[in-house]
Amino acid sequence: MQTRVLTGITTTGTPHLGNYVGAIRPAVEASRRADVDAFYFMADYHALIKSDDAARIERSRLEIAATWLAAGLDPQRVTFYRQSDIPEIPELTWFLTCVAAKGMLNRAHAYKAAVDRNTETGEDADAGITAGLYMYPVLMAADILAFDAHKVPVGRDQIQHIEMARDLGQRFNHIHGREFFVLPEALIEEQVATLPGLDGRKMSKSYDNTIPLFAGGKKQLREAIMRIVTDSRLPGEPKDPDSSALFTIFRAFASEAETAAFHQALLDGLGWGDAKQVLYERIETDVAPMRERYEVFMADPAAIETILQQGAQKARAIATPKIAALRDALGLRSASTSAAITASPKTVTKQDKMPRFASFRDADGNFRFRLFSAEGEELLLSISFADPKAAGALQKRLKTLGAAGTVLQIQPQGMTLELDGEQVASTPDYRDEQSRDEALLRLREALDRLAAQD
Ligand code: TRP
Repeated sequence: MQTRVLTGITTTGTPHLGNYVGAIRPAVEASRRADVDAFYFMADYHALIKSDDAARIERSRLEIAATWLAAGLDPQRVTFYRQSDIPEIPELTWFLTCVAAKGMLNRAHAYKAAVDRNTETGEDADAGITAGLYMYPVLMAADILAFDAHKVPVGRDQIQHIEMARDLGQRFNHIHGREFFVLPEALIEEQVATLPGLDGRKMSKSYDNTIPLFAGGKKQLREAIMRIVTDSRLPGEPKDPDSSALFTIFRAFASEAETAAFHQALLDGLGWGDAKQVLYERIETDVAPMRERYEVFMADPAAIETILQQGAQKARAIATPKIAALRDALGLRSASTSAAITASPKTVTKQDKMPRFASFRDADGNFRFRLFSAEGEELLLSISFADPKAAGALQKRLKTLGAAGTVLQIQPQGMTLELDGEQVASTPDYRDEQSRDEALLRLREALDRLAAQD
């Protein structure tokens, strides 16, 4: 089974080398693994909490999208989208808001830090604090829970938010009596380097010590590298590589052999000026081809838009039925469906929402589909087909057979559907036999409704 890995990138700044080494590069690498189903998105609703500068947000959205694509992210493989293109996210935010304990949000680090600053300066505790900042963890939980992410790669400062997402998912599951949400886990990459900045502290926009990744081209890259702080040892004097930010940055880009050679050269007295040139050239080797792709994307925002719209479509294929199922559980049903509860299935009319199929391509490029109930619950997942026509033909048959025309094999956790003695689809796993049996009734009903319509 694939692990769904999801992470968001707040669209306020321009990516720097620290972002590349600490987040972008490992995320792109992870997305290439066969056992990973990656969801990466631009958290532009979160950006609104930090900035009301529309031009800056617009630019940052574009730069970040172009950066990730240039860094090798394959949008065919990864679901890559903008948060603000997924209306299900703010909808889920509200559902979660209604189960969120206010006391839990009071304890969120970012909000608490703002309150502490106010208290220290003798201001009203909530002076200048928006409800957006207060609700930040709930929006983030919706980002994660809408897609049933298993793992969420984040920095240490975000661990509390993942715990809150788990808490909110668990509460919702508990209140509404079903495992609606997968409970996510934070993924902290211990081996990934945190890059030091120009002054040796962690590279961060807030310290103003960053080295740009693409902005300003190779000229700015070189200029920034020349400003890395070193000690005052002269050429010919042995340097201490292990206390030098310059060496740490080099190591983040170089192979083990290159790193060992550079280490030795510093011990042997390589001058800092020459060392900086070596560092610049090593980074430029990696960055130059990416920068070229970056420039191409930045010159063609329409191409980026198309990619992101396709990403939003893929993401919504998951979020839309999920939210539909939640709406149903919450009692937000269409009045016509409620009326149909007592009516017999034979009175199905065209206006009624129907069960439906949704086709997609899996990680291997094969064609599959799901059957959703009229309320949006996933009922079946087909086997995969190399030929999309074969998948289409199976959908057609399922539409006409009715429950009585199919063979359902019952297992403890779920069911498989057989046609002509071959398994062609299976249900999700259910918590226990009772939920499986209830799902069986819904599956039979959906198959009958499809057949009645045809
Ligand atoms: N809050 C995250 C950050 O600042 C960004 C983010 C928003 C995020 N939504 C998310 C990260 C969902 C992981 C999952 O880094």
